[in-house]
Amino acid sequence: MDLPIGIFDSGVGGTSIWKEIHKMLPAEDTLYLADSANAPYGEKSKEEILRLSIKNTEFLLDRGSKIIVVACNTATTNAIDYLRANYDVPFIGIEPAIKPAALQTKTKKVGVLATKGTLSSSLFHNTSKLFAEGITVLEQEGKGLVELIEAGKVRSKEMHALLQEFLRPMLAQHIDCLVLGCTHYPYLLPVLKELLPEDITIIDSGEAVARQTKAVLEKNGVLRTDGGAPSFIFYSNKDVEVLKSLIDCPKAQVSYLDF
Ligand code: SIN
Repeated sequence: MDLPIGIFDSGVGGTSIWKEIHKMLPAEDTLYLADSANAPYGEKSKEEILRLSIKNTEFLLDRGSKIIVVACNTATTNAIDYLRANYDVPFIGIEPAIKPAALQTKTKKVGVLATKGTLSSSLFHNTSKLFAEGITVLEQEGKGLVELIEAGKVRSKEMHALLQEFLRPMLAQHIDCLVLGCTHYPYLLPVLKELLPEDITIIDSGEAVARQTKAVLEKNGVLRTDGGAPSFIFYSNKDVEVLKSLIDCPKAQVSYLDF
């Protein structure tokens, strides 16, 4: 019960998921691993994404994690089946929120912004097929976005220009929902809101992932309910300043670690 929730991502983006988990489960210890030295995962081969996901999982398990949240869409879509089959802890993954978007869209056109690794995965295609029947799903690769977020350049001219370029074809097709299919992208919300018409709904998976994490901990009888002071430990194998600024939590202990 007192063991931590382990969370990993290719970098700083999974902190958007950590925030939702922390909001829903404030008594839980968390241990977050940012593999920023290897970001972005989205351009890597499936084999490489799997190798890195195994390394991250073993790091978190060695430190006693009772559950692992794969806070990275690319790692989820390419590695979670293997992880679930080979390790004896529950895994929570992040799948693009196609289902809620398909339920909400009125134009029957939904945009998905995600990495190449996610968009090319069979899990993504199966999810789209299952939940978006009769809906046009306009896929857009967000090439370059993760690198800018990792570099702390959310509010930069380059970011603005890239997003404008990526949104243009989806807007031309009259999407009314935009799915953020990468855990880095919720940090783009302020810029996206400036660029998108007000009637376009932006959907990410953060809250749903936190709910699912809570449900699995409850089901396994390992939800922490006591009032002890929880710890929030973060490790990064790159510069920790961007990570610290995104976490924005005075109680977080953030360290560099060469892993
Ligand atoms: C990446 O590392 O390319 C993005 C991570 C994600 O898909 O959430």
